[in-house]
Amino acid sequence: MDRMIGIIGGSGVYEISGLQEAQWQAVETPWGAPSDEVLTGVLDGVRMAFLPRHGRGHVHTPTTVPYRANIAAMKMLGVTDLVAVSAVGSLKEAYAPGDFLVVDQYIDRTFAREKTFFEPGLVGHVSVAHPTCARLSAACVAAARTQGVTVHEGGTYVAMEGPQFSTLAESRLYRSWGADVIGMTGMPEAKLAREAELCYACVAMITDYDCWHPDHDAVDVAQVVATAMKNADKARGLVTALPGLLAGPAEDCSEGCGHALDSAIMTVSA
Ligand code: ADE
Repeated sequence: MDRMIGIIGGSGVYEISGLQEAQWQAVETPWGAPSDEVLTGVLDGVRMAFLPRHGRGHVHTPTTVPYRANIAAMKMLGVTDLVAVSAVGSLKEAYAPGDFLVVDQYIDRTFAREKTFFEPGLVGHVSVAHPTCARLSAACVAAARTQGVTVHEGGTYVAMEGPQFSTLAESRLYRSWGADVIGMTGMPEAKLAREAELCYACVAMITDYDCWHPDHDAVDVAQVVATAMKNADKARGLVTALPGLLAGPAEDCSEGCGHALDSAIMTVSA
C-alpha cells in the first residue's frame, strides 16, 4: 500500500508549506462533511492530506468539530499515517510554553461528542490501551528535533469538553492525577483513528500553564494564539520533515494499528 500522511492541524497550523499538486478537495462521508475541504498534494514524493480541525477561519468549537467525518475523510482519501497537531496547556513546570510533547496516553473527560463509528447492529470494542502508534510518534519526535524545538517524548493528555478553560480546582485535580498536558480536541479523535485502523500520533504544542501556576496568569485565548503563532513555523517545519522520515511503502505497522478490528467485533454475523 502507498503511504499517505494525513495532518489534522489545530490552532496555528492551517496549511502545508512546499506542497506540490496542491488542491483543496471536498469530501463527503457517511458521517457528513469534515471540518473543511482537505488539502491534498505531494511532498518529497509522499502523498499528503491536510485538514484544519476547526475549519479555515476557526469556525468549529471543540464540541462541534465533526470528529467522525474528519477521520472517515482521511481514511477514504487513503491516509495511512495520521498526525494530529494540537495546542495544549501544560500541567507540569518542566513542560514550558513553546515546547512540543508527543502524547502517548489520554484521560478522556469529554462527554458531548460522538465517540464511535459503531452503532446498534454492529457492536465493537477496540483496545485503546496504547492509543497512539509508537512508530509514527517516534517519527514525529525526530521531525520535531529537526526544528530545534524542545520536544518531550511521551506524556498524558487530559481531553476536556470545554469550551471554557478549567477551574483552578480542576487544574489541580488533573495535576494530582499525574497528567502532563490539557486540551479540548484530543478525544475522541484518537479513539476514532484506532477504530479506523489508522496509525495515529499527536504532537501537542504547549501554549500556556493553564491556571495552576503561581507565577503565570491563568490561560486566555490571547496567550494560546500568541504562543501558537510563535511556534507555527516550527510545527510547519515538523510536518515538512515527516515525509523524509517516513518514506517508503506503508508497512504493516508492527504496532498492530492496521488490525485493530480483528478481535473487536461482538455482533454475530447472521
Ligand atoms: N488549549 C491550549 N491551552 C489549553 C488549556 N490550558 N486548556 C485547554 N485547552 C487548551
